[in-house]
Amino acid sequence: MVRIMTSDAIELIKASYAHATSTPRQLAGRFYQELFAAAPNLRALFPGDLTLLQGHFESALALVVRNLDEMGALRDSLRDLGAQHVHWGARPEDYVVAREALVAALASLTPSWDAAIEKHWRAAVTSIIVPMLEGAAVHTAIVAERLADDVSGGG
Ligand code: HEM
Repeated sequence: MVRIMTSDAIELIKASYAHATSTPRQLAGRFYQELFAAAPNLRALFPGDLTLLQGHFESALALVVRNLDEMGALRDSLRDLGAQHVHWGARPEDYVVAREALVAALASLTPSWDAAIEKHWRAAVTSIIVPMLEGAAVHTAIVAERLADDVSGGG
């Protein structure tokens, strides 16, 4: 698990997050803009109207920011979220694009942005996507196990 957040880093992130989300849906809106600019092919995976999803995304991110000092507590939920994402068509490499889109969105909404905050945010977002990818991998492994059991089960 990624655990590299010092309490100073966490405070910087929380302040930046509070600023970026002072207007609801602003951050999520910016994130999807950045994401689809970087990877237009991903647009088709999402519903046409992103309003509902923007709310979900911001709540998920808010939960993570509140729990940065205890990311282990969110590991199971993030793994489940990652497993769901397999069905939505998210590939491992898309997560890096999403991370950079989120960092860019945060940068555009944080007035005191600098290299240190960027580094902390990248680490924080990495600590979200690592358990999501683990969840996707475990999900795939379970499907494989079940298939293997299906053919060996009959004896
Ligand atoms: C930082 C990483 C990410 C986080 C925190 C995140 C978070 C979320 C959340 C909270 C939802 C809503 C779940 C629900 O409705 O119950 C969602 C849906 C979705 N996400 Fe992500 N996501 C991430 C990365 C990605 C990536 C890399 C893709 C790649 C294409 C992706 C594609 C989708 C799609 C297609 C949906 C569902 C849209 C629908 O409702 O049909 N996400 N995501």
